Amino acid sequence: MNRSEDYIPRLATITDIHIETRTERTFTLRLPDDDPGMDFDPGQFIELSVLGSGEAPFGLASSPAQTHLLQITVRRYPAGIVTVPLHRMHVGDYVGMRGPMGNGFPLAENLGRDILIIAGGLGLPTLRATIFYILDRRDDYGQLTLLYGARTPQDRVYKDDLQAWTEAPEIKCQQTVDVADESWVGNAGYVSELVDRLQLQPDNTTVFMCGPAVMIVPVVTILEQLEVSYEQMYINMEAHMKCGVGKCGHCLIRDKYVCLDGPVFRYDEVQQMQDFQHAL
Ligand SMILES: Cc1cc2nc3c(=O)[nH]c(=O)nc-3n(C[C@H](O)[C@H](O)[C@H](O)COP(=O)(O)OP(=O)(O)OC[C@H]3O[C@@H](n4cnc5c(N)ncnc54)[C@H](O)[C@@H]3O)c2cc1C
Ligand code: FES
Repeated sequence: MNRSEDYIPRLATITDIHIETRTERTFTLRLPDDDPGMDFDPGQFIELSVLGSGEAPFGLASSPAQTHLLQITVRRYPAGIVTVPLHRMHVGDYVGMRGPMGNGFPLAENLGRDILIIAGGLGLPTLRATIFYILDRRDDYGQLTLLYGARTPQDRVYKDDLQAWTEAPEIKCQQTVDVADESWVGNAGYVSELVDRLQLQPDNTTVFMCGPAVMIVPVVTILEQLEVSYEQMYINMEAHMKCGVGKCGHCLIRDKYVCLDGPVFRYDEVQQMQDFQHAL
């Protein structure tokens, strides 16, 4: 059954705009005090509307503990109907939001286990929410590892968080870039190479991933070699969406609605979705 918040956008005020990269910005959105706030699970998304332009889905990137202050990180597409006008907006402007939508990562089901998070490029937003969630309940989980890959050092999002996580004892954070420059002293190469070097306990590890297919496919191959089963891997997928509530069929891949059944799927389910490569 759908809820009214699935259909009726709530107004939120932009309270901060952080420039992440040349094409990506993080928007902090505040719901009014008399709004009940947005309770969400890491992995869920909102349909964000720019009044007079249109609506598009974006993953929630902030801590789920903050129900009135939400963050999304948005890549601007050339001529994008929503992303171009959104990138032109200012602090104090209003946007609409419906949600939260879809499912989230199965965090309650994985208490006590080691959590391995693997993100590529703009795959990090909903995994950032996942990291905040686990850090808030650190004793409930085993080892927490983040592997993050970006094209260049400048293309990395959340540079301050990455720095803080690299220094924090509660999380093991490793970054890599495809193409290094003189400013970069870290790893160079693909994120799959970081996976290859991991010492993990396959029986006690659950993997949460989000990134382009060119990253996911080799990463899964290496995880399989490390004896992690498909049932222990979850991926946050994207698909072209319109309604976000299972009505329009835009996001249907085989027999799954990405907006309702996902966007988080177990990897054995993903394998059965024939259009996987196309949909990512
Ligand atoms: C569940 C979910 C979560 C998402 N989370 C984020 C997020 O956190 N941050 C973010 O920046 N984007 C995210 N996206 C993608 C985002 O919704 C699209 O980039 C956005 O809809 C583009 O809007 P637009 O109106 O500006 O572009 P349009 O005017 O619709 O299209 C502009 C160009 O972008 C291309 N395009 C549109 N959507 C996609 C897409 N999904 N993948 C690749 N190319 C696309 C079009 O083909 C076209 O070339 C998410 C998508 C889904 C389904
Ligand atoms: S976006 Fe309409 S059915 Fe999923």
